[in-house]
Amino acid sequence: MAYTRRDVSTLTRAERRRFVGALLALKRRGEYDAFVRTHIDHYVSDGEEGLRAAHMTPSFLPWHRTYLLEFEKALRRVDASVTVPYWDWTRDRTTSSAPWTADLLGGNGRRSDQRVTTGPFAHATGDWTIRESVTDVEYLTRDFGHPRRPVDLPTRGDLDAALDDPVYDSAPWDSTSREGFRNKLEGWGAGRGAASWRTHNRVHRWVGGHMVGGGSVNDPVFWLHHAFVDLQWTRWQRRHPGARYLPARPLGPTDPQEGRVVARHEPMPPWEVTPARMEDVAEIYRYA
Ligand code: CU
Ligand code: CU
Repeated sequence: MAYTRRDVSTLTRAERRRFVGALLALKRRGEYDAFVRTHIDHYVSDGEEGLRAAHMTPSFLPWHRTYLLEFEKALRRVDASVTVPYWDWTRDRTTSSAPWTADLLGGNGRRSDQRVTTGPFAHATGDWTIRESVTDVEYLTRDFGHPRRPVDLPTRGDLDAALDDPVYDSAPWDSTSREGFRNKLEGWGAGRGAASWRTHNRVHRWVGGHMVGGGSVNDPVFWLHHAFVDLQWTRWQRRHPGARYLPARPLGPTDPQEGRVVARHEPMPPWEVTPARMEDVAEIYRYA
């Protein structure tokens, strides 16, 4: 039977406690940091060499879907009642609403050093020391809204603009793709400053601190954000029946992106799973 991922704002007190408890258990066992490491190791950009399986690439969505499923499996080994909730940032847009409450993820970082000091992931609890990171601070950091150069959360309209595109992805299959649902959702924009951070990327930037860059998984909001992004893929499929993941076949030897992107039936490292396999997960979980 498929299980359900729910809007985080609808979780009961007991459900919040169990979700937080399962996160802390994985952290204690070192499993959480292994997930952080996997994400850092697969953070390959356009400008680097080699296969891009996770970011700036068509498989951004199926890679993160697989990654979330693996994480959810680990959570459910701790507590079989837990699933990854999603944060609908088009609706919960204030710094005090879900998921930023003291019984869930805690609030913003303090002004002096961006250190999170409230909730279960505050450094002073002793439960959440950052070990796998691209910086060397040991405490979780956030910087809501990036006040030095303010940025807003994306709106329902921003999301709709991505969902309206009937084509999954398009050449050159990277952060500069102008057409296609994938990059409109992933959110690499042209230009500089706030305008270059769109949709999914803009949420990382809005939260700030650890949520920016390869070490973003250190902030548990990563999972809630990516569950909501994952839900958009399902919504896009409903809006465009029959539309599929692209590219359908591996790119040819004359294509500059040959060997750098994952085609529909190719495996996504570090797993054997293909994007095609991840296009329909209704038997595993659904969204409420
Ligand atoms: Cu990622
Ligand atoms: Cu992300």
